[in-house]
Amino acid sequence: GHEVGSGSAVVRGGRSVVPGAEGQTEGKHSTSVAGGKPAPDDAVNLERRVGLLSGVALIVGTMIGSGIFVSPKGLLERTGSVALSLVVWGGCGVLSLMGALAYAELGTIVQSAGGEHSYYMEGFAPGDKRKTWWGPIPAFLYSWVSVFLLKPSSLAIICLTCAEYFMRLFLTGGGNCIIDQTSVKLFAASVIILITFINSYSVALATKVQNIFTAAKLVAILIIVVGGIISIAQGNTQYLNKGFEGSTQSFGNVATAFYSGLWAYDGWNNLNYVTEELKRPYKDLPRAIIIGLPLVTVCYLLVNVSYLAVMSPEELLASETVAVVFGDRFLGLSGQFIMILAVTLSTFGAANGSAFTSGRLCFVAAREGHMVDVLSYVHARKHTPSPALLFNAAIALIMVIPSDIGSLIDFFSFTAWIFYGGSMVALLVLRYTMKDVHRPYKVPIIIPVVVLLVSVYLVVGPIIDSPQIEYLYATLFIIAGLIFYFPLVYMKLAVPGMGHVTTFFQLLLEVVPTDIMPD
Ligand code: ARG
Repeated sequence: GHEVGSGSAVVRGGRSVVPGAEGQTEGKHSTSVAGGKPAPDDAVNLERRVGLLSGVALIVGTMIGSGIFVSPKGLLERTGSVALSLVVWGGCGVLSLMGALAYAELGTIVQSAGGEHSYYMEGFAPGDKRKTWWGPIPAFLYSWVSVFLLKPSSLAIICLTCAEYFMRLFLTGGGNCIIDQTSVKLFAASVIILITFINSYSVALATKVQNIFTAAKLVAILIIVVGGIISIAQGNTQYLNKGFEGSTQSFGNVATAFYSGLWAYDGWNNLNYVTEELKRPYKDLPRAIIIGLPLVTVCYLLVNVSYLAVMSPEELLASETVAVVFGDRFLGLSGQFIMILAVTLSTFGAANGSAFTSGRLCFVAAREGHMVDVLSYVHARKHTPSPALLFNAAIALIMVIPSDIGSLIDFFSFTAWIFYGGSMVALLVLRYTMKDVHRPYKVPIIIPVVVLLVSVYLVVGPIIDSPQIEYLYATLFIIAGLIFYFPLVYMKLAVPGMGHVTTFFQLLLEVVPTDIMPD
């Protein structure tokens, strides 16, 4: 295990976080499942120190980010009514809970911590099928899409939200003024760069940032919920009483409303990446999910109720920064300031956590031969996977330029749920191919079936109902992965000149392959 010292140091370092930090979600890299290589990290004893409470904190801390501060507007717009929007918020919570329970079974039978990649390999390319040309395709496409689309787009969305709020700190009238979108983008780009720097500079710094900022988001949620309770106690229920008035009739609208909501819940599968660090994984993985997800769902519902106890649906729809309007109603200018600050910090923390995990996902994919080698290198002294971090940042920067937050979120949810659905298929396949394997946690079969059906609906519904060219792009992009898969991954052809490129970046970034690192 010594020769991979640095690689594991990166990952190990990432674990020294208190619960709730997204950084902690980075588990041991995938074991032999994917590459057929021995799992180098096996020599490193992972400490099993995540108990039930920490598990719950981890789920809650990684899920709450930007979504609850930006999505209420989109959900209300798309559903058309107060009550239907609350139903969709709740529905997103239930769907995420069911997805997470299915993942709990996957996490307890597929022992390696490679997340979806490992489930896809076990499900679609077990044993000797690994050598077939078709078996590893789903797993490869998963890495391809996560590294090139999902992870950078989450970073871009969160940083755009952070920028949107941060800029208002310096403007009088905070919540109400219209902010120039070019400045928001420029600022979001700076946040991406700053966060990439922090993460490349030191794992300890990144995890410290994470902890401080996790506290900020809990404070923000608490303020909003308490404010809402006060307002309701004063009898302000006129907007909530509007019920289903104005609800949309379109299926596609409901599906895209789900896209907005599901973004806020994304991260429900994060505990699966740390199964090997749970003290009692078989018991605590499902338990933490059963406690954590309803907790987040209740928080989100309460926050939405609070918003509507304080402002009319029209006001909510008119505001880009709903939390700031909320603060204003309660404490005037100082309330605005508190909310702007809390949301800025919350999203900054979420962006930091997102960069942290994304960098490592790319790093792991590269180490398994699914990405170019240089992405699996780490900094010679800092032991951070800086090439992967930079790569993720570069794509996120490109995504920030043309897009607005709403369409990025749709794009994200659409693509993500194709792959969550795929994991349900893997689970069902494993029920058949690994019939006799003992399942410490067995999810009722109806759950993955329902999640699969819903994910098909979520993906197909909007395409049929209101086709948008973006969905076609996303689909084409997924398929385009095959162009790289056959020559580079399946046939392992060397790209001419790749050696020079690798050397160039190695010298430029002072990075080294993990297997020649001193510990
Ligand atoms: N739910 C988070 C938010 O509202 C986004 C999570 C992004 N996904 C992730 N695995 N980090 O901002």
